[in-house]
Amino acid sequence: MPPTEKTTPDTLPRRLSVAPMLDWTDRHFRFLARQISRHALLYTEMVNAGAVVHGDAARFLLKNDCENPVALQLGGSEPALLAKAAAEAAAWGYDEINLNCGCPSPRVQKGAFGACLMNEVALVADCLNAMQDAAPDCAVTVKHRIGIDRQTDYQPLADFVGTLSEKTACTVFIVHARNAWLDGLSPKENRDVPPLKYDYVYRLKREFPALQIVLNGGIKTNAEAALHLQHTDGVMVGRECYHNPMLMRDWDRLFYGDTREPAVYAELAERLRDYAAERLADGRGSILRHITRHCLGLMHGLNGARQWRRMLSDAELLKDNDPELIMRAWREVEKAGRRADTAEAV
Ligand SMILES: Cc1cc2nc3c(=O)[nH]c(=O)nc-3n(C[C@H](O)[C@H](O)[C@H](O)COP(=O)(O)O)c2cc1C
Repeated sequence: MPPTEKTTPDTLPRRLSVAPMLDWTDRHFRFLARQISRHALLYTEMVNAGAVVHGDAARFLLKNDCENPVALQLGGSEPALLAKAAAEAAAWGYDEINLNCGCPSPRVQKGAFGACLMNEVALVADCLNAMQDAAPDCAVTVKHRIGIDRQTDYQPLADFVGTLSEKTACTVFIVHARNAWLDGLSPKENRDVPPLKYDYVYRLKREFPALQIVLNGGIKTNAEAALHLQHTDGVMVGRECYHNPMLMRDWDRLFYGDTREPAVYAELAERLRDYAAERLADGRGSILRHITRHCLGLMHGLNGARQWRRMLSDAELLKDNDPELIMRAWREVEKAGRRADTAEAV
């Protein structure tokens, strides 16, 4: 499903976006997300700029045509390398290139990028400028935290955003509304333990009204998203989209004014089956599990959700690589639904 209008960097539909998530938001998950929302802006996993430039670019940049609008997130801190990766990304058809300034993992810190770049604003400016020069038709954006370690003041955050807005053409700031604690917390803990401070993000929008400020972190419902949208230009949702992708089913209607009927479960199962059949046949090494592992949350909240998850993660069932497994699992969900209806009627 291509988007209905041609987007430009300024008109990317960033009211709702799906966060970059390593190992999760690969092209197979993004395919599923796009079947559920026609409009949401999708982000790839973080890809190391060096891997794109020196490695197998296709492995990291391959995407489905239906995914646009889609942003590639890059990790790196060398302007020349990021520029080359950005040019590649533009050639592959990405609409936006995002620089990761929020990842706290020790591996990333060792490479001196991710969240520790928040202490290196001049270098970030050089990176963004190099990326924008290399990919003039793409939006170049940043995703960052509200601070590093135990620093709790608002001002360093405002200085980071203010400096970048002065020294670069970047007008879009995606803010994960908690600090990154670079010492002592795992990346997973760093997504939960440092407290969320949504008011810092709202304040950024008030103080920089010309910038697009996108809020990220801890959003679980569309009601919460709507609330944040009263204060910001967009919200980005990560984990909840992955564990419960049908959260996105109402996004087009609620946030983009698109009144077309969203896809129903049976249709989604069929599209996944067809997609899996295409991927298995395209000779790029996909196996069924690569696709089904991202669909386990699709039936979240339905009576047959457990059967769906069980069947689509069962190594024995998956080893045949038969895309019809998806339809068999769906029929179990339907059956469970009918059983529940009958029980209710009795
Ligand atoms: C499994 C996983 C992988 C992640 N990988 C990335 C990444 O590659 N780049 C990034 O900027 N953030 C990454 N994040 C952080 C998310 O983009 C997001 O900022 C964070 O999960 C908070 O949003 P949420 O509460 O809606 O999940 C990751 C999060 C998870 C759960």
